[in-house]
Amino acid sequence: MKQEKKDQVELFKLIFTLNWEDPEMDRMALKIRPGDTMMTITSGGCNTLSFLLQDPSIIYTVDINPSQSYVIELKITAMKYLEYQEFIGFIGLSPIDDRLSIYNRFRYKMSEGAVKFWDYNSEIIRKGFLINGRYETFVKLVSRFVRLFEGNRRVNDLFNDRSPEDQKVFSQKEWDTGRTRFIFNAFFNKFILARRGLKADYFTFDDGSNTFAESFFKRFRKVIMDVPVKGNYFLHLYLKGCYKSLQEVPDYLKEGNFQTIKDRLDRIKIVTMDAQNWLPQMPSDSLDCFALSNICELMSMEDTLKLFKEVIRTARPESHICFRNLIIPREVPEELGDKIIKDIELTNKIFNTDRSFVYSKVAAYKLNK
Ligand SMILES: C[S@@+](CC[C@H](N)C(=O)[O-])C[C@H]1O[C@@H](n2cnc3c(N)ncnc32)[C@H](O)[C@@H]1O
Repeated sequence: MKQEKKDQVELFKLIFTLNWEDPEMDRMALKIRPGDTMMTITSGGCNTLSFLLQDPSIIYTVDINPSQSYVIELKITAMKYLEYQEFIGFIGLSPIDDRLSIYNRFRYKMSEGAVKFWDYNSEIIRKGFLINGRYETFVKLVSRFVRLFEGNRRVNDLFNDRSPEDQKVFSQKEWDTGRTRFIFNAFFNKFILARRGLKADYFTFDDGSNTFAESFFKRFRKVIMDVPVKGNYFLHLYLKGCYKSLQEVPDYLKEGNFQTIKDRLDRIKIVTMDAQNWLPQMPSDSLDCFALSNICELMSMEDTLKLFKEVIRTARPESHICFRNLIIPREVPEELGDKIIKDIELTNKIFNTDRSFVYSKVAAYKLNK
């Protein structure tokens, strides 16, 4: 399959089969109301699917990379045509025989592009595709390395139930160590990250760090000390390469939510486009929630300004925005500051409770229109 590049985004490569952004933070920022019209960035599709629980009328899930659209299309189609146990087996959350024959039962229900893509990537389907994009493969490698150096016992111990105070003491003693810093230095250097899809040469960090490794170590330290480990499926993925249990998974993978989400799948509209080109096609005053991921980091400042001008045009009054930075500091351009207002208190709360922890910023804004 042909592969192209547009700036820092590799097209047609399957980068994410999961969302690595904590949807609870988006929920806090977006204050989704029943009947809302949402725009999300697709990535692995988990968050888009889980937002259906808030009962929006439409979710436009936008991604510049067609393979990300094919990921969510596969998840949606599998949810539509399978029952829960078979669904979690098919995607790879639990063991099941012969995933390819399950795929063959519903593949013809997907778009021509998705069928071509998944037929070509049938080996990923056979293995269970859920934790098998490029980024997830990298994370599994990191987790193996962590367990090798830290030892399984220490890693498992981190996930034992503790009070917040005990968690702090334990994490400081067992994890705030030279050995853990070494692991971060080994994996989060720019050469390795560049091979995993982050193409920019980043030299400055929001938090004053001088290197990726230093900055990521600070974020890791913060999450293990200050955010409850219980229920933090991101931390479990990074350290163990899998989910801990069927209870500690994104909402759309929980049995109790399955039917509600299944009934609402038709509300998701998959858009394969650059968000900068898609928003200008949307009518004015047509969207209530904007979950922008960290796409602004992948744009120039001029394009960031254009994007937020389009957000203002397409937003309904009382709209909300959530956006992140992973590394490059990006902010709503100053000249739009009277129209897009940052909720500082909520942003601080979000930043301090974010389970996905690798982001240097997760911020909440409200439209003033
Ligand atoms: C910005 S990346 C970051 C990964 C994300 N933080 C997560 O947790 O999955 C998320 C997605 O944004 C997509 N993307 C990047 N720039 C975009 C743009 N201008 N318009 C639409 N999608 C974009 C990428 O293809 C990728 O699938």
